[in-house]
Amino acid sequence: MDAPVIRPLLAGGEAAACADMLAHSDPWRTLGLGRTALLAQVEDPSRERYVALAGDALAGFLMLNLQGAFVGYVQTICVAPAFRNRGMGAALIAFAEERIFREFPNVFLCVSAFNHGARRFYARLGYREVGELTDYLVAGQSEILLRKTRGPKLP
Ligand SMILES: CC(C)(COP(=O)(O)OP(=O)(O)OC[C@H]1O[C@@H](n2cnc3c(N)ncnc32)[C@H](O)[C@@H]1OP(=O)(O)O)[C@@H](O)C(=O)NCCC(=O)NCCS
Repeated sequence: MDAPVIRPLLAGGEAAACADMLAHSDPWRTLGLGRTALLAQVEDPSRERYVALAGDALAGFLMLNLQGAFVGYVQTICVAPAFRNRGMGAALIAFAEERIFREFPNVFLCVSAFNHGARRFYARLGYREVGELTDYLVAGQSEILLRKTRGPKLP
């Protein structure tokens, strides 16, 4: 597959299309996050939001939180089902790492414990599982905190 074009989310209908993609996919379905809540997240201007395009098609979505305590946080990554298993997710993570490591020494993210495919995906990309957050998003489900580091924050 040709490398995707990854660029900032445009104002207008793109946020709605991204929210639709998330709302129809796990882990958000299992977690019970509906389209309204997801659209509010996608539209949050305090986050850096990107889309991946394969030709004209919306193939993926990436949202970064570059504020707060565990800074360098990949809040959301999703590849549209028709484009999975072709390297698109790895390209989005490479993009996120390039962006985050320019300013911060850590990339953090959370993955739902039941999301075994994604856990394999992150392990292969060099992410270490550093903790389990029980009952974090919803009761009965754990989120696993992942980290890739280039070194300590202080010299
Ligand atoms: C997790 C997710 C982002 C991965 O994206 P992806 O585009 O499918 O990932 P990649 O294609 O880079 O890698 C996934 C698989 O494709 C294979 N692959 C990678 N590049 C490939 C290529 N060029 N040709 C064929 N296969 C390839 C990998 O070996 C991997 O296989 P495995 O996991 O079965 O061992 C995607 O599955 C997704 O959006 N899932 C739903 C949302 C989700 O779970 N998000 C994460 C929440 S934390």
